[in-house]
Amino acid sequence: MTESPRGWGVTPSTGIPTIAFGNQKGGTGKTTATINSAAALASRDHDVLAIDMDPQADMTKGLGLGPGDDNDPSSPKNDLPNTLATDDANLLDVLVDNPRTDNTTLSEIVIRSDDYEHLNFDLVPSHKDMGLARDWMDDAGARLSLKVALEELIDGGYDYDYILIDCPPDLSVLTDAAFIAAQNVFLAAQTQATSRDALDDLWDQLESIEDNQQIEIAIVGLLANMYRDDGQSQKFLDAFDESYASLAPIFKLPMRVAIQRAWDNGCDIFEWEDANDQQVERELFLEVAETMERAFDKTQVEV
Ligand SMILES: Nc1ncnc2c1ncn2[C@@H]1O[C@H](COP(=O)(O)OP(=O)(O)OP(=O)(O)O)[C@@H](O)[C@H]1O
Ligand SMILES: [Mg+2]
Repeated sequence: MTESPRGWGVTPSTGIPTIAFGNQKGGTGKTTATINSAAALASRDHDVLAIDMDPQADMTKGLGLGPGDDNDPSSPKNDLPNTLATDDANLLDVLVDNPRTDNTTLSEIVIRSDDYEHLNFDLVPSHKDMGLARDWMDDAGARLSLKVALEELIDGGYDYDYILIDCPPDLSVLTDAAFIAAQNVFLAAQTQATSRDALDDLWDQLESIEDNQQIEIAIVGLLANMYRDDGQSQKFLDAFDESYASLAPIFKLPMRVAIQRAWDNGCDIFEWEDANDQQVERELFLEVAETMERAFDKTQVEV
């Protein structure tokens, strides 16, 4: 692992800072962190592309690009297309190497924020076919497929300040492809024994990718999520500190009802307003955004 100054990121071959939000343990806050970090970076006037590599498609649905919400016909998100079930080209076509899909490129499936008022950043949505990835992406080249697809996208004229990738809760070929393309990982973990053990396995996986691919991978942040103000949480936070504080900043996010409500309503924390105060969450994700700016030596864009 890169023994770098705090939060110093690795710039991948595209030249664009790219961060994969990972942990093979489920429900730790990967998707929450991806959406809210993307929103925070966008609020600081950065152009962001978010990629949903998870067959569960939580980020795609959360941003309104799923089946829509029949319970709320007035939601502006109902105007967005349902990208999950489209017969058009999808992300699996981009990642899989077969004659039918050989020429599918990311540019065909990027949803541009300029086209939809509701979106604050561009999105590569997931798709129902992504569940087949583990069967179809079975050759060595598959692990490089997202990296190659991003190189083509950027060579083709797309330009972003940051690319953020939401990983599935596993150590599958999809997660490997995301780590190889990004070379920067933001860990989302809960302050629990199972999360600490999962991070140990993830660490081994990252080291093995570094060896096999001959690349550097940096940890650019760790979200200690659903942190409780008790001895148990503190014990695991101390363990995270010991293992990761020299590599990357650790962000402590308590259990916050606004995070859950924003999620349930398909909003990021910057869009979401209710009677509860959202300041804690907003400040945390703005801090994450500032850390990413520092990690890649990019200051806030002047407008
Ligand atoms: N700090 C928090 N406070 C309250 N609820 C939270 C918090 N963080 C995440 N959640 C909620 O926990 C659930 C799981 O979060 P999320 O989907 O982001 O995790 P994940 O790691 O992406 O899950 P998966 O492994 O299934 O992809 C969601 O309902 C989310 O709203
Ligand atoms: Mg998720």
